[in-house]
Amino acid sequence: MAPEESVEASRLLQSFERRFLAARALRSFPWQSLEEKLRDSGSELLLDILQKTVKHPLCVKHPPSVKYVRCFLSELIRKPSGDSVTLSESSAIISHGTTGLVTWNAALYLAEWAIENPAAFTHRTVLELGSGAGLTGLAICKMCHPRAYVFSDCHSLVLEQLRGNILLNGLLLESDATAPAQHPGHNTHNAESPRVTVAQLDWDIVTAPQLAAFQPDVVIAADVLYCPETVLSLVRVLQTLSACQKDRQAPDAYIAFTVRNPETCWLFTTELGKAGISWEAAPRHNQKLFPYEEHSEMEILKLML
Ligand SMILES: C[S@@+](CC[C@H](N)C(=O)[O-])C[C@H]1O[C@@H](n2cnc3c(N)ncnc32)[C@H](O)[C@@H]1O
Repeated sequence: MAPEESVEASRLLQSFERRFLAARALRSFPWQSLEEKLRDSGSELLLDILQKTVKHPLCVKHPPSVKYVRCFLSELIRKPSGDSVTLSESSAIISHGTTGLVTWNAALYLAEWAIENPAAFTHRTVLELGSGAGLTGLAICKMCHPRAYVFSDCHSLVLEQLRGNILLNGLLLESDATAPAQHPGHNTHNAESPRVTVAQLDWDIVTAPQLAAFQPDVVIAADVLYCPETVLSLVRVLQTLSACQKDRQAPDAYIAFTVRNPETCWLFTTELGKAGISWEAAPRHNQKLFPYEEHSEMEILKLML
């Protein structure tokens, strides 16, 4: 960024920070200047604004009303574009010992499938396992009208980035919870947007009561079959979820993956069989909305839990 542009950007940031911390009327914010600035700078500026406002230490300690924050975020997210998902992610496929800081192809593939099959999610509670950077869930929250969406992962840095990405997309994040479905009477919630929570959920240690507390109607996961150990713990979680009946029904489950190693896929289906879980391949969808490698073979399995 040229020096004069960077001075402009910091003036803009300061202006947002002062007005937000003083809880000034939203119409007094320099939205027009932000829009102009966003045309030549990327989502970095939006992240900086979030840091100076909603995530400002003073705001965290003495938060303004939920309504004020929600209106502010709604206004902010209208700026970049309509039906887009904006993500902050790593450029390395593995960093800080995790694969979860970057979006994987199966996440894009599952998001496309969801957009073409919104009824699978509409007015339902979705639990996502191993959410990573959050692309699939954000696409579902924006396009498929779930009632509640629980993003989950085991890695603390992944969870931190995920929370940032959720806010970046203008979704209001409820405080971390293990059982979001248990707060139906929360009156500050906007019925149009889903209840969004982020949960720290490690397949190796999560217990049956913890899983049952989410009360999911649908369970999804993308690109989580990459080594025998993860396959085994994932199947254990799926088997536990099959006992989590809601309205006398086990949740639907969709697992998307890139077929990199046929042995890993074989292990997954074999372990599903041992756990008494049958499955079928979901029909291929028509739309290709995202840029991922054409040649990689992708699959979505619908599991009968
Ligand atoms: C290859 S990444 C896929 C991320 C995302 N779903 C995507 O497709 O872009 C695998 C994800 O699974 C998570 N993961 C791996 N082992 C896990 C475990 N035992 N419990 C919970 N999450 C786990 C990782 O932290 C990572 O975010």
